[in-house]
Amino acid sequence: MTLPFTVHTTDPGSRARRGTFMTAHGPVETPVFMAVGTRATVTGLTPADLSEVGAQVVLGNTYHLMLRPGPELFRRVGGIHHFMRWSGPVLTDSGGYQIFSLAEDRTLSERGARFRSYTDQRMHMLSPERSIEMQTAIGSDIMMVLDVCVDSRSDLPTMRDAMERTHRWAVRSLAARTNPAQALFAIVQGGVVRELRKESAGVLTPMPFDGFAIGGLAVGDARAEREDITHFSAELLPPDRPRYLMGVGTPPDLLEAIAAGVDMFDCILPTHLGWQGTAFTSTGRVRVTRGPNAHLDVPLDAECPCSTCTNYSRAYLHHLFKCSEPLGPRLLSLHNLHHYHALVAEARRAIEQGTYASFARKKLEAIDRHEH
Ligand code: GUN
Ligand code: ZN
Repeated sequence: MTLPFTVHTTDPGSRARRGTFMTAHGPVETPVFMAVGTRATVTGLTPADLSEVGAQVVLGNTYHLMLRPGPELFRRVGGIHHFMRWSGPVLTDSGGYQIFSLAEDRTLSERGARFRSYTDQRMHMLSPERSIEMQTAIGSDIMMVLDVCVDSRSDLPTMRDAMERTHRWAVRSLAARTNPAQALFAIVQGGVVRELRKESAGVLTPMPFDGFAIGGLAVGDARAEREDITHFSAELLPPDRPRYLMGVGTPPDLLEAIAAGVDMFDCILPTHLGWQGTAFTSTGRVRVTRGPNAHLDVPLDAECPCSTCTNYSRAYLHHLFKCSEPLGPRLLSLHNLHHYHALVAEARRAIEQGTYASFARKKLEAIDRHEH
């Protein structure tokens, strides 16, 4: 059983496509950028804020949510949508990436990953079955299989072992799924090695997953390598299922991946950099904490219609950051998310009009012009 995904238009000058993915909490118009809300919150923002910036999907994380507040709470309140009062679609990552990047005292075996909790120092087990059970309790609309992530610079045997275990875990995840209203996506691994990517897609794509993700990128790889593997992997995935590039990336990364036929993205950059005082604007990145902004009674981005740019000046934002006032990060995070969602909305319109290739080229040139 797979959830319906419709491709409306494909761009004549690239592999970009404009589609709709149906979920239990409404349609997702693709290409889509998904805001990262690891702990059932996009830090500092309310669901109303998320709607205002154009967010369609919020991304939660199984690793964090299983430790706190835990599955029992989700079962008691009836899932994450009601818990956080977000009525749109939610995607949960499986925890595979967090086990790789965050977990302490971690031991990996065929059964799963054992690791120490950062909340109460106790040992926990995350297996493919346990991840699906947790994502079922969370009640996300799109679940991800538990995968094995390794650094892109690992040796070939290490990358092959991780990939093969990811395949066996994908089979176990499919078998553990109990609610057909929750979509389940597989994750193609294989680092930056084309032969491994080909093998991984070859093993996973015949299985009845609702979509396929490209994992294991932006973990030590260079931009050129990432683009090559993105293009190569996207072509190996079935055209009738959504393609999700995990954890990527900058606006140029998104523009390139959309041209490669990728439909879904998530990245912490807009929120993370927003919290540190960096804004993505139509004229490149702006650090509001830098001196010259202190006296500028002009918007962060004169072309941006978001509430931050409509209502506040660079001087005020600079002041908020200098005083460590929480409104500063909140306003920048709002602006950055608006910027990302507007970029992807523009991309959707360009694909509909069959002009994506020239649209992307112009955007990339404008970013290059300002940042180099
Ligand atoms: N987020 C970014 N990359 C990955 C990946 O390879 N696997 C998972 N599960 N999440 C990710
Ligand atoms: Zn703005």
